[in-house]
Amino acid sequence: MTDSLSDLLARRVPGHSLERPFYTDPEIYQRDLETIWYREWLFAIPVAQLVKTGAYARIRIGAYNVILVKGADGVIRGFHNSCRHRGSVICQKAEGTVAKLTCPYHQWTYDLDGRLIWARDMGADFDPSKYNLKTIHVRELAGLIYICLADEAPDFDAFADLARPYLEVHDLNRAKVAYQSTIVEKGNWKLVWENNRECYHCAGTHPALSRSFPLDPAVAGVSADGSVPARLQAHFDKCEAAGAPSKFAMAGFAGQYRLARMPLEEKALSYTMDLKPASKRPLGRVTVPDAGTLLKFHYPSTWNHFLPDISLTFRVTPIGPQETEVTTTWLVDKDAVEGVDYDLNRLTEVWVATNDEDRRIVEDNQLGINSPAYVPGPYSPIMEDGVEQFVDWYVKTMLRAMGPQSVAAE
Ligand code: FES
Ligand code: FE
Repeated sequence: MTDSLSDLLARRVPGHSLERPFYTDPEIYQRDLETIWYREWLFAIPVAQLVKTGAYARIRIGAYNVILVKGADGVIRGFHNSCRHRGSVICQKAEGTVAKLTCPYHQWTYDLDGRLIWARDMGADFDPSKYNLKTIHVRELAGLIYICLADEAPDFDAFADLARPYLEVHDLNRAKVAYQSTIVEKGNWKLVWENNRECYHCAGTHPALSRSFPLDPAVAGVSADGSVPARLQAHFDKCEAAGAPSKFAMAGFAGQYRLARMPLEEKALSYTMDLKPASKRPLGRVTVPDAGTLLKFHYPSTWNHFLPDISLTFRVTPIGPQETEVTTTWLVDKDAVEGVDYDLNRLTEVWVATNDEDRRIVEDNQLGINSPAYVPGPYSPIMEDGVEQFVDWYVKTMLRAMGPQSVAAE
């Protein structure tokens, strides 16, 4: 990297995409991890993903590999997936169910609460209590599990207090996972987000999604400043009168998170090809059939769609400078029966297609940026102010972490 990160941040041109090193340079990727990914609260899984005692889910975040495990007491705990003997990963698969956590290397064995309970031939002086699994911070919010890798986690309560009423009506605690997909997009994590924060690309890219998701920003309401068109306000009022918190709320440092219940296209009740509900047995208590989708984003790890019939969570994590993992989970009511209340293909086809279309355009975007000919280009002030809002959050977050002194000294 020829220019320092602080130079690059300082000379960023507002209203334009970032310079090439932000999307390509391994050093900046490392700074992104240390400044953002290893410090902030990150969405991990819906509670519904871990049903039985001993069920676990593995998550990769940069160089970290962590597991969430459901204990015999029903509590979901988070651990580094690294054995306290000589460091091997313990859970090799992305998910599974175990009676105990046994390291595959020399079989050190941990209880589901992380305590080391068995280690062979370690001598009389060996004290197993010194070698419990290292924990990570875990918080549950209305059926969603968040984690934080930092030693000292930042505040979570401000976000949780704002989001809880919006989420509670969706009853995510009585959900079941109908389907989950994990894809790797060969693109920098910021390109995945930039693509997510605009629908300028939707008409040309997403034929299935465009049937239900409105492309008009006045309806989709992506205004970074929070201004609300009259039609959208009427929608908020209707949903709120029926007990479903809906109005636009954006908060956190530089707008780190946002919630708003947005209408879908006229006649669309869910993300299906025929626009009808994806599940006959609704998940949650949103009684307005055309309430649309509660959109929630929380940088840097998640965007979500909560509808009157189903919910969708998306988790984004970087696994390399030009590789990002995206996990999508389709949630339905736990009593909904496949083949009776919902058809799996009908439930998933719109977002399976949309995710793949987004993967393709993100990878093309990365390829084009990798060319030395790339220079930052202008955002559409009408269609891409959400992208500008994301980039602005990123730049401000990086500058804040450097502090005034390190910015001057670098
Ligand atoms: Fe896990 Fe040896 S590294 S038991
Ligand atoms: Fe898209």
